[in-house]
Amino acid sequence: MSTVHVVALGGSLLRPEEAAARTMWMGQLRQLMVHLEGNGRRIGLVVGGGLPAREGIGLAKEIINDSEKLDQIGIAGTRLNATVLQQILLDIGCDVAPVVPHTIEAARLLLEDHHIVVMGGTVPGHTTDTVAVKLAATVHARHCIIATNVPHVYTKDPRHHDDAEALTEMTLKELGEIVGVGTPLEPGASTVVDPVAVGVAMEAGLDLAVLDGRDVRRLDDALEGKPFEGTVIKA
Ligand code: UTP
Repeated sequence: MSTVHVVALGGSLLRPEEAAARTMWMGQLRQLMVHLEGNGRRIGLVVGGGLPAREGIGLAKEIINDSEKLDQIGIAGTRLNATVLQQILLDIGCDVAPVVPHTIEAARLLLEDHHIVVMGGTVPGHTTDTVAVKLAATVHARHCIIATNVPHVYTKDPRHHDDAEALTEMTLKELGEIVGVGTPLEPGASTVVDPVAVGVAMEAGLDLAVLDGRDVRRLDDALEGKPFEGTVIKA
C-alpha cells in the first residue's frame, strides 16, 4: 500500500459558530485532500465530535450519570461530523469510502480500497485522538497528526496559566507528565491530547504531531514531512 497518513481532526475545527471561517476551512481542507489523493496518498481522517457531541452529552447529563452511555452519545456526535466531511469530500469527487467505519479494522480494510476514509469514534472510554493513534499504529503510519485548535502543546494549560510555555519538541513521556497516561477523561472533557491516546502511542512506539488545524498549511507541511509549526512528540 502507498504511504498512509492518519489525522485526528478536532471537532472544534468545524467551528459551527464562525460561518465564514468554517466555509473557508472546509474548502481548503477539500483542496488539500484532492492534492494528496492526486499524489497517490492514503489518508485516514478521524473526526472529533465538537459541538454536537458536547450538546448531546450536556442534554443527557441532566438525567444520565453513566459515562458509557454518555460516551455513546459523544460517539454519535463524532460520526455526525465525520459524515459531514465525508459528504463534502465525496461531493468534489474524492475517492472516499462510502461508509463511516465503526472499527479500526473496518477502517484499515477500507483504506486498502479507497484513498480517503473518514471516521469518528469507535467504543466508549476514550476520544477520537485514541482512535487516530490506534489507526496510525495499525496502518504503520509514520506518525499520528493531531490537528486541534491550539498551536502547540504547552507546559501548562494556557487557558488557566499566563506563564504556560509553548513546546516545539518533546517526548511522549513528557507529554504524559502534562496530560496523564491511560486514565480516561470524563465524557465530553478535553485535554490537548487524550491521556488514553498517549498510553497507546507509548505502547506502539508511535510519534505524534500536534498542530493548529485551523491553519491548513500547517497540516499540509506535516503531511508532506516538512518542518511544521506545532509540537513534535517523539516516542
Ligand atoms: P471527541 O473525540 O470529539 O473528544 O469525543 P475531544 O477530545 O473533546 O475532541 P474535540 O473537542 O471534538 O476536538 C467526544 C466524546 O465522545 C466520546 C467521549 O465521551 C468523548 O469525550 N467518544 C469519542 C468515545 O467514547 N469513544 C470514541 O472513540 C470517541
